[in-house]
Amino acid sequence: MQLISSAAEITALSKAAHHAGKRIGFVPTMGALHPGHLSLVRAARTQSDVVIASIFVNPAQFGPMEDFTKYPRSLETDSAMLAAGGCDYLFHPSVDEMYPKDADTWVTVEALSRKLDGHSRPGHFRGVTTVVSKLFNIVQPDFAFFGQKDAAQVVIVTKMVRDLNFPVQIVVCPIVREADGLAMSSRNAYLSPAQRKQATVLSRSLMRVQMLADQGEHSSAALLAAAKQIMAEEPSIKLDYFEVVSATTLDPVLDISGGALVAVAAYFGTTRLIDNLLLP
Ligand code: PAJ
Repeated sequence: MQLISSAAEITALSKAAHHAGKRIGFVPTMGALHPGHLSLVRAARTQSDVVIASIFVNPAQFGPMEDFTKYPRSLETDSAMLAAGGCDYLFHPSVDEMYPKDADTWVTVEALSRKLDGHSRPGHFRGVTTVVSKLFNIVQPDFAFFGQKDAAQVVIVTKMVRDLNFPVQIVVCPIVREADGLAMSSRNAYLSPAQRKQATVLSRSLMRVQMLADQGEHSSAALLAAAKQIMAEEPSIKLDYFEVVSATTLDPVLDISGGALVAVAAYFGTTRLIDNLLLP
């Protein structure tokens, strides 16, 4: 695997690959890689001729009080994991390479970016869509792989690609979990041993929703009440949101008969974790 930090170099490489009739699969990440990220690389490997991953801790998607500087960075182990996972090129640009000092252009999916995580993290999704647009322009992939773990991100990036005619197909991969159900996340590393135990409450509450939905419960209010009862078993955590929304508009739905996204976010100390369940 080759490590490349220049945007121009990655673009040239991508153009040459396309010229040779090859299809490019792209996996954008912020590093601190775990098996969840690697599942995207594996999916990219099976669907594309050339696999490009990126590692860029994107300052534009962190709020002023958030963890940009302390976000875990582990380029060496990440590189080894990507190489073993079948990645061909790792794009690892500097902040200056991605954001010239006088950069003044943003890409915003207006309404969706205020929903779910966008509500408690203002500006977050604007940072995501701006960097993902830039990465798409630089890498020019045929396919881009995103995890269902970040459900709102998937909906917003998909909308952006549709609205702005990006010639890329978004491929969504399932959530990879720890043995006890906790969704894998780079931020799990921040948890104390006690918080790590408490964190299973997220997947446990979603499993309760799944069980009730399987039994025929259609009412969002009933599902949320049951889920919040499970969340209440861990009184020391702070719930950010628990919502049942449309998987396309992210607006609340009262009834799940037509399908729904059940999404939760909570603070374990200062660490904010998210999880979700897609009901068909
Ligand atoms: P990051 O949090 O590093 O995640 C990179 C990709 O891995 C995202 O598509 C995310 O949904 C996926 N992922 C993370 N944990 C996962 C899990 N447990 N199972 C399946 N997929 C998982 O998301 C970002 O970075 C950034 O916002 C980015 C898109 C790179 C833009 O900066």
